[in-house]
Amino acid sequence: MSRAFGKVILLGEHAVVYGQPALAGALNVGCTARIGSNPTGPCLSLGQSRFSAHDSNDGLSRALRATLEATGLSGAKLEIAVDFALPTAAGLGSSAALAVAMARAAFAYANKAPEASEFRALVDVIERIFHGNPSGLDALLAETGLLGLFTKAEGLRPIAVAKPVKLVIADSGVARSTQTQVAGVAVLRERLGRPIERTLEAIGDVARAGGEAIERGDLPRLGALMDVNQGLLSALSVSTPELEHLVGVARRAGAMGAKLTGAGGGGCVIALAPDREEAVAAALRPVAKTVLIAELAGRPG
Ligand code: PMV
Repeated sequence: MSRAFGKVILLGEHAVVYGQPALAGALNVGCTARIGSNPTGPCLSLGQSRFSAHDSNDGLSRALRATLEATGLSGAKLEIAVDFALPTAAGLGSSAALAVAMARAAFAYANKAPEASEFRALVDVIERIFHGNPSGLDALLAETGLLGLFTKAEGLRPIAVAKPVKLVIADSGVARSTQTQVAGVAVLRERLGRPIERTLEAIGDVARAGGEAIERGDLPRLGALMDVNQGLLSALSVSTPELEHLVGVARRAGAMGAKLTGAGGGGCVIALAPDREEAVAAALRPVAKTVLIAELAGRPG
């Protein structure tokens, strides 16, 4: 069985588009892929849904075909079964995790040990089928399990986690589009100029400070920075009443900090609540579509 990690943006989303750093890390949950034989030809199954390599042109069928071609398995009578342990299409890196797990499983099934570049090229092809022009961050985290400060110019600077960091993750169940949210911020920046520039810079400062807090194991400071980041994201109009509600519920239940994660407009919130994760999760369950407690996979220092 092949595994890959989900991811979370702890601090810095949107500002990262304008060159600021984002603090992002892999989660210790993600997805698994296993390959078995299937007499009717190649297919991909996700829970109850099955996608054939032959007759369909949707993203998952195309991703399957790309995987089979790159691993020399085209036409093989097999089924790739993928299981997710986190909400999909909610900003938690599920598509990158799918790409990495599927590529790992297929190379292993074909008895091939690809060069890193060959492996990443396949993951990139799959990610492009789903996302057009991804930054590559999700795929890198899905593959490596790292945590760090990411900038567009320099990629990921890994950070060693001083102590384990658990997060409560609540999915609002509201669908969102990263592209639409990013475009909305661009329009606001165009219209308002300097106040938005400064908001984006402040978000960058918060992400840098968060990186230091994680390195030192200073979770109260990380929590306070998450709250500030939520305020700044709200100023960029990417938060919603549903997300604000989830953030408020988490804080009232004892979270040290809570914020939306990813593009906003829907998707998930994350809450930091050391030793109170169960209480915060219990408060969120009645008001969220899905709630899970996950640990950052970033390696201990
Ligand atoms: O929700 P996600 O995982 O698609 O994250 C989007 C993060 C943004 O900063 C809003 C966009 C980006 O490309 O970095």
